[in-house]
Amino acid sequence: MRMATWVEVGRIEDVPPGHAARVEIDSVPLAIFNLDGEFYCLDDTCSHAEASLSDGDLDTSRCAIECPLHGSAFSLQTGDPLSLPAVEPVRVHQIDTTDGVIRIALSEDAR
Ligand code: FES
Repeated sequence: MRMATWVEVGRIEDVPPGHAARVEIDSVPLAIFNLDGEFYCLDDTCSHAEASLSDGDLDTSRCAIECPLHGSAFSLQTGDPLSLPAVEPVRVHQIDTTDGVIRIALSEDAR
């Protein structure tokens, strides 16, 4: 099994609670979310059409992000769509915030 490659993308202060940030690793656009101090990372591009999930609204009660274009909600934990029109999941990537530094490891299938 290949070891995960961790890439430093910023500091936790860059993404306050309730906010999102968009970063790129190897030209893959990624969205980082801070849900009340818990950090998550998903593909930034919606699985339904060309929309940036980091521009969407966080749904704390469902631990989800709502796409800004047509409103599908995606689970921050699994990337699965929780509502239509999206039916395909987005990928979830590992994220680590040790010592206040945000590091991401792309999922194997993201390259
Ligand atoms: S582009 Fe995201 S739900 Fe349509």
